Amino acid sequence: MPAQKIVNFCVIGAGRAGTVHARNIMTRVKNAELVAIVDSDLAAATKLGEELGGLAVFKDLTTALRKSEFDAVVITTPTFTHASLTIEAAEAGKHVFCEKPMALTLEEADKMISVTKRYGVKLQIGFMRRFDPEFTSAKKIVESGEIGRPILVKSVGRGPGLPPPWALDPKTGIGFLAEVNSHDFDTLRWIMGDEYSSICCDVSALIRPDLREKYPNFYDVAVVLARFRNNGLGVIDGACPVGYGYDARIEILGTEGVITVGEIRGTTLTRVTKDMRVLTESFKSWRDRFRDGYINEIEHFADCIIHDKEPSVTGVDGRKALEAVLAAHKSVETGRPVALPLA
Ligand SMILES: NC(=O)c1ccc[n+]([C@@H]2O[C@H](COP(=O)([O-])OP(=O)(O)OC[C@H]3O[C@@H](n4cnc5c(N)ncnc54)[C@H](O)[C@@H]3O)[C@@H](O)[C@H]2O)c1
Repeated sequence: MPAQKIVNFCVIGAGRAGTVHARNIMTRVKNAELVAIVDSDLAAATKLGEELGGLAVFKDLTTALRKSEFDAVVITTPTFTHASLTIEAAEAGKHVFCEKPMALTLEEADKMISVTKRYGVKLQIGFMRRFDPEFTSAKKIVESGEIGRPILVKSVGRGPGLPPPWALDPKTGIGFLAEVNSHDFDTLRWIMGDEYSSICCDVSALIRPDLREKYPNFYDVAVVLARFRNNGLGVIDGACPVGYGYDARIEILGTEGVITVGEIRGTTLTRVTKDMRVLTESFKSWRDRFRDGYINEIEHFADCIIHDKEPSVTGVDGRKALEAVLAAHKSVETGRPVALPLA
């Protein structure tokens, strides 16, 4: 029998991230096709399904599994639903691409890893920076030894707007260190090629202090200081809503050089006006900054399914980033550095 060349997908969650993945699978990812969309808000699923040419839409995964045929799911629902949807999909033999943050708790993450393993399906977490051409080149330069040993990685991760309301509510979300900066936690660990040994964090609510009335633990600016087992250091500077655009930059200091990736301006189009102002534009959103990363990560996932390979970003990577976020929150609560792994 000839090898399968196309992976059929069902996207679960027709919100912000789901729309990006659905459009990419439909029009840009070479080895994938989109056959169904699920959203508990059927109107949202229908709107996206119609935009993409009249796809099958369903109100829940259970119905989609019964009435449609697909090989894999892309989970782009709120974080508190990731574990149960992953388990249901895996038990039905479907491969799972799940958006970050992987889950709300380490117990959920462990279950997602063990169930996908038990049912022999792939699990990849949506850390698209690992598929961004510039971030990938930086990693290759580090691995080549050209800048010596990495000793300090700094990552800026700032979002233009607030995450959706479910992400702010402590019953359904775990704040923007998870929703925005879990990418930075993953990037530091990936670039350093090592595991966290301790994390210290402080946060404030200075842009939207009013939100502390509704959510007492709300914060909108955070700084993380991390130590790795090899004694390398990491710094994460996160904030949202900053308003000025989506800002993702890293600097990697090595014993023999330095690498920088990313800049605030999102275009080379620049105009200089006669009152001597230099005007250009920032990246409006993560959709623009990591356009290629979102395409490449799904292409990689489909390729792993077709050729039965382990994805390069696994559930274990998702769990490690989540553990780092939870350690950062614990550090905020206690005012002290927190040792990893967490007990
Ligand atoms: N990789 C990235 O850069 C990136 C960017 C944005 C969001 N995300 C992640 O994607 C996930 C979704 O975030 P979002 O901003 O798109 O959220 P969103 O609120 O815009 O969309 C979520 C959608 O899921 C639907 N939904 C909720 N529960 C459901 C269920 N049980 N079954 C089916 N549908 C359900 C909602 O009706 C909604 O349409 C989050 O984990 C978020 O962190 C990742």
